[in-house]
This record gives sequence, C-alpha cells and structure tokens, in this order.
Amino acid sequence: MGKLEDIGTTIFTIMSRRARELDALNLGQGFPDYDIDPRLTQLVAAAMQAGHNQYAPMEGLPALRERIAAKLLASYGLSIDPDTEITVTLGATEAIYSAVQALIGAGDEAIAFDPAYDSYDPAVRLAGGRCIRLPLIQPGFRYDWQRVRRTLNARTRLVIFNSPHNPACTIARREDLDELARIIDGSAVLVLSDEVYEHVVFDGARHASVLAHPQLAGRSLAVFSFGKTLHATGLRIGYCVAPAELTRELRKVHQFNTFSISHPLQHAIAAYLAEQPRCGEQLAPFFEAKRDRLRHALEDSGFVLPKAEGTYFQLLDFRSFAPPDDRAFAERLLTEARVATIPLSPFYAQPEPLPFVRLCVAKRDSTLDEAAARLRAFATQQRAVAR
Ligand SMILES: Cc1ncc(COP(=O)(O)O)c(C=O)c1O
Repeated sequence: MGKLEDIGTTIFTIMSRRARELDALNLGQGFPDYDIDPRLTQLVAAAMQAGHNQYAPMEGLPALRERIAAKLLASYGLSIDPDTEITVTLGATEAIYSAVQALIGAGDEAIAFDPAYDSYDPAVRLAGGRCIRLPLIQPGFRYDWQRVRRTLNARTRLVIFNSPHNPACTIARREDLDELARIIDGSAVLVLSDEVYEHVVFDGARHASVLAHPQLAGRSLAVFSFGKTLHATGLRIGYCVAPAELTRELRKVHQFNTFSISHPLQHAIAAYLAEQPRCGEQLAPFFEAKRDRLRHALEDSGFVLPKAEGTYFQLLDFRSFAPPDDRAFAERLLTEARVATIPLSPFYAQPEPLPFVRLCVAKRDSTLDEAAARLRAFATQQRAVAR
C-alpha cells in the first residue's frame, strides 16, 4: 500500500511520451530544445578532470554559495550569508521537498494556489500534512486574499507562493506580497516561495522576491533553479535561501534526503558564474523575443494568447474552437495538429472548466515557427468545418 495511491504519472511525462509516440512537436514539458552554452560543458569536463569527483560539502560548495550570495546582492541588493542562509539542493524540487518535510508535521496545513505546480501537494502529504488548495480567480489568475484570510487557522504552517507563476504565466505584484505579509502578521505562518523563473519577467517589470520584502524576508524560504537560469534542466541543481534558523531546519532534512549535490557540477557552475555573473539578466530579453515570436505567428489565428507576464510558458486560449475541456483539447492538438501542450486541469485539486492549454516557448525559433504553422493549419481546418 503506497502513501500516494491516487497519484499516477505526471501530465508532463505522459505528454512527452505521447509526443514521442506520435512524432509530435513537444511544446508541453518545460525544457529547452536548443544547446546549452558550450562554455558550461567545458567547465563541467574541467571540474571532473581536476578531480572534484567525491562528495561535496553537505550544504553546498562554498565557492558556489558565495557566487549565489553575490548574485542576490546584484539582483536585489540583499546581503545574504552564504554560510548560514544558502543551501545547494537537487534542483528546486528538492528544495521544495526538503523545506516542506522540515516544516510540516502531522495535522499541519499548507496553503497553495491553484493551478499549482505539481510537487507541492504530494510533498505536504508525505510530511503528514494537508495542502489546502485555493484557486486563483479569473480573469487573469489573481489572488483572492479575503479567502486566504478566511482559510488561515491555528493549523496553518506554510503558504506556498510562486512567482513568476507556472502555469498561469503571471507575476505577483508588490501589493500581493504586502497583502500576504499583512495576513500572516502576528502568526507563526512561514512562506515557501518558488522563484525559479525570477529572471524571466517581461515588458520591463521587476521580479518581486520575498527575500527583498521587509516583512516576509525573515519568515520565508525562497527556492531557485540553475536548470532554468542556465537553460539546462538536466543539471538538477538549485538552492534555497532562508534565514539561518530556517536554513538549519532545512539542512537537517537535506542531509538525509540527498546528502550533497553533484560536486563537479557545483564547481562548474561556480566557475561559470565567476565568468558571467550577470548571465541571468539575458533571460528576460531572450524569452520575451520567443514569446513575441509565437504570439506574432498566431495573430488572427482564432487562438487568443493572453499576454504572458513571466516564465517561459505561454497560455493558448482555445475558446473559439471548443468547449473548455482542456484535457480533451490538448489531446486533439496532439493527434490532429501534432503539437503537444499541457492542459491546466492537472494543476487543480478541483479542476475548473478553463479554455487554456500551456505552451513552452523555451524552444528553437524553428520549433516555435513549425508549432505555430501547425496550430494555424488546425485553426483554419476548424473554421472550414464550422462553415
Ligand atoms: C514553478 C516550478 N517550480 C519548481 C520547478 C522545479 O525546478 P527544478 O527543475 O530545478 O527541480 C519547476 C520546473 O519546471 C517549476 O516550473
């Protein structure tokens, strides 16, 4: 008897597998289909050749933690202690998991916002807690802070927050953080903030990190991912930034969960960041151009593309072609247009009938152009049938 009996294979794995079977373009799962910077490859080889092939320090390579602290200073003007406030983890996924195990006990509650990234709820349940899933409200996937206020109770231990938001492609406003801070003021509630797309914020907007919020910084754990920043989801290296007392608790779980993270890769990333300390700043213009390319290619197609404020995803509104059954529509796009997308309903505890599927724009321009051509052909066909 397993502890997650109701959970099957994730929608990402299913769609990627189906895309391979049908030889479809995979704009479903979020990973780049272009090459990483060859310099990073060289630095990985150099780190292994230099003999960094045994266990790394449990909390992360000091040189890498120092680079991360320098980055946090440059990005947000923050002075973070690399020794006591930064822990290198196996991707953001491990940071989320270890943080939740460290903080949630039997009977505790965590609040997450639907559509929620799929690892939050299982992590809370495996810790013996209950994840209360509050839907973001339409239009525009905004926070219902009144409802958060009503949901908070003596069992609430954690609010899991995500900005830029996957899959809604929105960014939290400074007012959202202020409201969250007001609501949990005077309680012991902590914040787990998933900021893996911190650099992917468009149209000149700035990412509002909980770490830079005066009331939230002292009670928040923020998680980040080099998989996103370095266009290499297979690196599986992320980190968690939190005040020393929370970091101590996180590390107690981390040391028995993964113990320590790939030593040569940490050396390589530290060296890469030394050479290119501002590499994160290239992400916004890079992905904004890809977002705009796809949007432009689908103009007047009948699909509506709500403007993505951040992340490397783009929602596709299909209401002019079909009723709001996103799983059924994703299946049609897969088999009829041969484009794999991700429906949003698997991100909900109680799915709403929404007319959106998610596309990943972290793809070569040629992949985006081909996907747009296939989607346009599908749309033309639908209009012909309707006539
Ligand atoms: C919102 C969000 N959080 C966390 C993760 C996991 O990051 P990592 O691949 O570093 O484990 C992802 C990856 O897609 C994500 O989109």
